[in-house]
Amino acid sequence: MELENFISINDLKKEDIDFFLKKADEMLKLLDSKEPLDICRGKILATLFFEPSTRTRLSFESAMHRLGGSVVGFADANTSSVKKGESLADTIKTVESYSDIIVMRSPFEGASMLATKYCSIPIINAGDGGHEHPTQTILDLYTIKKKKNTLSNLTIGLCGDLKFGRTVHSLAKALSAFNNNKIVCIAPNELKFPNGIKGKIEEKGTKIIQTQNLEEVIDKLDVLYVTRIQKERFLSEKEYLRLKGVYVVDNKMLQKAKKDLIVMHPLPRVDEINPEVDSDPRCIYFKQAFYGIPVRMALLSFMLKCQS
Ligand code: CP
Repeated sequence: MELENFISINDLKKEDIDFFLKKADEMLKLLDSKEPLDICRGKILATLFFEPSTRTRLSFESAMHRLGGSVVGFADANTSSVKKGESLADTIKTVESYSDIIVMRSPFEGASMLATKYCSIPIINAGDGGHEHPTQTILDLYTIKKKKNTLSNLTIGLCGDLKFGRTVHSLAKALSAFNNNKIVCIAPNELKFPNGIKGKIEEKGTKIIQTQNLEEVIDKLDVLYVTRIQKERFLSEKEYLRLKGVYVVDNKMLQKAKKDLIVMHPLPRVDEINPEVDSDPRCIYFKQAFYGIPVRMALLSFMLKCQS
């Protein structure tokens, strides 16, 4: 497999996804052994975050430290020379000479792809506006596989902001590579799953059902993937306030669900999952966030051509 940059989940074929899930399992075993690793010793990861993050940035950094490599970067563009008006091109051309691989997040769709035009080292997209978040998808698939032992024949509910939600865009595309999955899109009309992506997924034979009502479909789901209504993507605060809180997963809602449902969320959450359900064994979003470490260890070591 060739993976010069990782910008979209479409950069991977089904076999490539399977490869990374297997490699993540190997990394998990190495983590469990508690032995210090030197798989990426001498390599430097640059994390360029032009938009806030907790999990993606810190799990990439932690993954690189666990692999024995080191990390440079910024968590806030305001502390970089971008604040003085430096262009993305100049930032990338500079950072490529300070590091071996770049992970970047931007509020702008296509920014990571654009950065590859100025860069001779690998770039990983850690989220570009409402477009894609492909490494999140690998850890989402890893989580589903761990719990369900399969990535096929599942009914997966995607709930919340399906219009701007980059995690659900990448995840739905990936799920369509596996057999006989059914995707139930649960969103208010204003935040519906984009028709362009829907069409491409349906062309691959994956069935998509759309509804606004979570309560009506929750008993059919094997996986419920909840997302935040993202305040930062709205042009009007009034519109955000109108839609915020439209879905809430709480004990009452989960009473209607299957006993073996899994509830996932890329996090951060605001009010769409009531903390009262955190102790329900079906709610696995913190475990999901942890799986970011072995999955990103697998991606970094492969893209840096380091042997494990
Ligand atoms: N899942 C995710 O992208 O979380 P962060 O925004 O905290 O990185």
